[in-house]
Amino acid sequence: MDIMDMIVGESEPIKRIKELIKQIVDTDLTVVIYGESGVGKELVARSLHFQSHRKDFPFVKVNCAALPSELLESELFGYEKGAFTGADGLKPGKFEQANDGTIFLDEIGDMPLTLQSKLLQVLQDGEFSRIGGKKDVKVNTWVVSATNHDLENEVKRGLFREDLFYRLNIIKILVPPLRDRKEDIPILFEHFLSRYGKQFNPDFVLDKEVLDIFFSYHWPGNVREMENYIKRLLVLNDWEQLKEEMLDKIHAAPTRRDMAIAAPDVKAKEKISRDVLEKLIDLGEEKERIISLPSLKEIKKQALLKIEKEVIEEVLKRTNWNKKLAARHLKISYKALLYKIKEADIKKPPDLDKERK
Ligand SMILES: Nc1ncnc2c1ncn2[C@@H]1O[C@H](COP(=O)(O)OP(=O)(O)O)[C@@H](O)[C@H]1O
Ligand SMILES: [Mg+2]
Repeated sequence: MDIMDMIVGESEPIKRIKELIKQIVDTDLTVVIYGESGVGKELVARSLHFQSHRKDFPFVKVNCAALPSELLESELFGYEKGAFTGADGLKPGKFEQANDGTIFLDEIGDMPLTLQSKLLQVLQDGEFSRIGGKKDVKVNTWVVSATNHDLENEVKRGLFREDLFYRLNIIKILVPPLRDRKEDIPILFEHFLSRYGKQFNPDFVLDKEVLDIFFSYHWPGNVREMENYIKRLLVLNDWEQLKEEMLDKIHAAPTRRDMAIAAPDVKAKEKISRDVLEKLIDLGEEKERIISLPSLKEIKKQALLKIEKEVIEEVLKRTNWNKKLAARHLKISYKALLYKIKEADIKKPPDLDKERK
């Protein structure tokens, strides 16, 4: 694979993503990639395509947030002569261009509702009609989407069709922000330095301080931000200036002091689980000066995941790791349980393993 398409990183989530990619590339199952801006969603999408049997066919990207509804429709589905004034010939849309390949629907959460039903139809039948077209067009296009929204929440708010959500979201890939997988920072740092060093500044001498500050920075723009900083350093060699800008951003982020003030408050309410509270305090004691306090939404998600994990562990214990039975008690499907066991990294106690053998 091209160096451009290499997913660099050794953190657990990145390793899991690389594994997952291998598992699903040839299934044609629809994929949604979630994550903040700049975490590498598009890279994951390209990686899916270029590792699949579709790699010699086109990878076509469409940004669903960039165009108003009508333009997006003609962009995706094309039009035929006379469809509207100015439509003086047939123009195939991106779905057709991506035939036998992959269409990457970026910012899918911003797709207008009117178009969502047309997309649903393509997903269900592999068929659609061009604007102004009489016949249906058949395509074999793998649909991979990405979003930095919480689509489930968009569904609840009525902004995203529920049926489309379930149809798109068969495989879900979550790319965590860079600040939550710091072990990738030095690796990405090396990667970008060597990748752009040759091109921009082969004699560049790195200030020792750079990696330290890069490591403690909270990376609101994620990997893209780091990539851009490194390019800039190589070209302008203005570390003092860049450092100042980064420190400014650090100070604009929530500080440990804010945390110290907020923490007793939270404690007084006693509503928040101890574990979450401890997590907050842990964060406050990190050696770096920046506290990237997770959002309330993230805390809630983590807390729920933790409770879920504990419950599953307990039920598995009580059923002596009889997963079929445990799934029935939990009122979820066996498959869903397997998925959750893997996702939450629930380990069977070794003594149980022996008993079964
Ligand atoms: N794990 C990674 N390894 C190497 N490069 C990465 C990685 N993650 C992101 N990048 C690079 O960072 C930039 C932003 O990634 P992109 O996929 O466009 O992010 P997103 O689509 O989530 O906004 C791209 O140039 C991409 O190649
Ligand atoms: Mg992107």
